[in-house]
Amino acid sequence: MLSKNVVLIGFMGTGKTSIGKALSLQMSRPLVDIDSYIEKQEKKKIAEIFETRGEAYFRRIEGQVVREMSERSGLVLTTGGGAVLDEANRKALKKNGIVVALYSEPETIYRRVKDSSHRPLLKNADVMGEIQRMLEIRRPFYEEADIKLHTDNYTPKDAAKKIIDELKEKFSYDK
Ligand code: S3P
Repeated sequence: MLSKNVVLIGFMGTGKTSIGKALSLQMSRPLVDIDSYIEKQEKKKIAEIFETRGEAYFRRIEGQVVREMSERSGLVLTTGGGAVLDEANRKALKKNGIVVALYSEPETIYRRVKDSSHRPLLKNADVMGEIQRMLEIRRPFYEEADIKLHTDNYTPKDAAKKIIDELKEKFSYDK
């Protein structure tokens, strides 16, 4: 019996949301997507929160929701790509969770995010340069995860299966 949350972290466009959905189905666990939760709570889209209140405000709310969800158990929890920037968030997520980092090649990330209108941090002209710069800063935080998975060659369903295999192997998950 594994009561800890299973927490997906990783850069934008690495598949957290779609793999989180597949994982929640395969594990029969409730899914909480922190960005969606924030959007419901604030009654605004993430891009709008960035625009009207600024990134610092978003990070504050993100931290509150991370703490709130880390008090709960048995969830599949998907985070925004920048949630791991804050040390308190990393500690909270790890304390009651098995943290799974998802990775993709920068080119894959670029392909997935270049036309998205809901990613306020990738609005620069040089999106690829921005992705590489941010990846460089964030890589050490993603590396702290308990399980790591490159997602480029998996469907969400297969990626979820791989994660469950590792949970069984390393964390005695038995369902
Ligand atoms: C962010 C990633 C976004 C969202 C916000 C900030 C980031 O989530 O939380 O735009 O700092 O990388 P996704 O990783 O789901 O796109």
